[in-house]
Amino acid sequence: MCGIVAYIGNKKSSHILINGLQRLEYRGYDSAGLAFISEDSKLQVFKNQGKVKDLDRLIDHKKINSHIGIAHTRWATHGVPNNTNAHPHYDNSKNIALVHNGIIENYTVLRTKLIEKGYTFESQTDTEVLAVLIGAIYEQTKDLESAVRNALIQVEGTFGIAVVSSYEPDKIITARRGSPMVLGIGENEFILASDASAIIQHTRQVIYLDDNEMAIITKNHYFTKTIYNVDTNSEIQEILYNLDQIEKGGFDYFMLKEIHEQPISFENTFRGRLLVDEGNVKLGGLRNIEDKLRNAEKIIITACGTSWNAALVAEYLIENLARIPVEVEYASEFRYRNPVINQNDIVFAISQSGETADTLAAIKEAKQKGALCCGIVNAVGSSIARETEAGIYIHAGPEIGVASTKAFTSQLCAFTLLSLYLGRMRNLSSTEGMNIAKAITQIPSQIEEILQNSEQIKKIAVKYSKSKNYIYLGRGYNYPVALEGALKLKEISYIHAEGYPSAEMKHGPIALIDENMPVVFIATRDEIYDKVKSNIQEVLARKGKIIAIANYGDTELAELTDDIIYIPKTLPMLTPVLSVIPLQLLAYYTALELGRDVDRPRNLAKSVTVE
Ligand code: G6P
Repeated sequence: MCGIVAYIGNKKSSHILINGLQRLEYRGYDSAGLAFISEDSKLQVFKNQGKVKDLDRLIDHKKINSHIGIAHTRWATHGVPNNTNAHPHYDNSKNIALVHNGIIENYTVLRTKLIEKGYTFESQTDTEVLAVLIGAIYEQTKDLESAVRNALIQVEGTFGIAVVSSYEPDKIITARRGSPMVLGIGENEFILASDASAIIQHTRQVIYLDDNEMAIITKNHYFTKTIYNVDTNSEIQEILYNLDQIEKGGFDYFMLKEIHEQPISFENTFRGRLLVDEGNVKLGGLRNIEDKLRNAEKIIITACGTSWNAALVAEYLIENLARIPVEVEYASEFRYRNPVINQNDIVFAISQSGETADTLAAIKEAKQKGALCCGIVNAVGSSIARETEAGIYIHAGPEIGVASTKAFTSQLCAFTLLSLYLGRMRNLSSTEGMNIAKAITQIPSQIEEILQNSEQIKKIAVKYSKSKNYIYLGRGYNYPVALEGALKLKEISYIHAEGYPSAEMKHGPIALIDENMPVVFIATRDEIYDKVKSNIQEVLARKGKIIAIANYGDTELAELTDDIIYIPKTLPMLTPVLSVIPLQLLAYYTALELGRDVDRPRNLAKSVTVE
């Protein structure tokens, strides 16, 4: 949510900053802006409503001779998206400019105090308050570092910031609390960003700032300290993915590329971890807490969005294979409802980005209550990965499309591994373990098979694209898939869609069904197949249009339904990984048909770093 990039070095900064913003645009895209320090030490700001390409048009790169700058792409929280509310924001002297991710919670108090002292404001943003406060303190201290530090001490809420000033024109100051900042260390240059994807083309050496840590960066040097003025010693780490992983690689959209990556991303999640011959799993990231996992009395899984849907599948998986009670909680609710956490309970937080503010807050709450917290995370080195004591990286590779796809299937893979591991610690036999392990190894080629069917799914998407509403139904392991299918369609096509357990349909949603309502049934062959078939009959009786996801060879269902998409057969517990693929494609092709911006759906952000 919102992206920051900053550059200091020998190269011209304007192209580097625009390029960095383009890589970060999936984090926010309602407005964008830049601030440069020119060679004659002047501070210049350009910003406007719209996308990064609009900002690029505004800038005459030939005229900008600058080697230091900060930039921002915004997802509005305080103040509508317009030119004034876009970042960077100035202090009152217009000699300091600041970009900010996060929310300054006490901004009204700070703003009132500043207004009483005669300071003025142009925007409605919380960010401008911080910029003006830094400027006000600078008037006393005449030192940028201490002005930033003293301002941040007064701030409640979250921030990832970058500051430049014509007072000290050879310096960038950054700091974070609850909003990621990564410092890329190049040769005689530094690239700072809220996300490593804007850094990787310049350097792989990075420092992930900690909460309440700041970095003071000049062309040849940097140092870090806390905002309380205590020196810190941050470790330099290496970015583990490649540039081509964050490019479209011939696909029209990142989302389509990521859907097609799933045979590989799924395999990357289990590679080196699955012991097929032993029917077991090796999970290095959980080794240190093995005893605690053995004695776990309850598992609580907390997450948001698609990750929450994956958690629901996990509930079924863990209870089935390991017989440990599981509770699934929206992270945003968990924190505020005083949850019961006992000594032997274990909390798992799932997050693709590892930066979702609600999930991070839930972990902090659980830790405060004395719980052991583990992460299931994609982004290596992210806040949630660092905040948890143990965990499993899903290794799906960078996910750029705002609608999550490959992270979901890799999360399901990680949970299957976890359930197998916990099950084998308890009553699950090695024979059962081996069956599951073998079925896992077949999934990549089965996903591939479904992807080959894209043209048929595209035709179905086009056929129903004028619909105003959709219902998705599934039972058992496929109920969370119904939720995920509906979520995908809503997110990128803006068609209203509801996911329900099939049998719940008769308790309400059935009232909506008529000849204009497409109903997607996930009706794979398992022990509740016959029940789902009865639910299909109930929809047919009300003239609803049925799109079924079924197993190859199900001719009986083909006769009942308007459209049928076949998927290969696997174990019921692994079916979600296959049944979700046609639903991702259905959402994608519907959005495409409706002319939506698939990778940048309105109002959404890839990583929601505000609560
Ligand atoms: C946002 C994204 C969703 C994502 C959710 C949780 O809402 O738009 O696609 O599922 O955040 O994100 P996380 O990174 O924690 O999995």
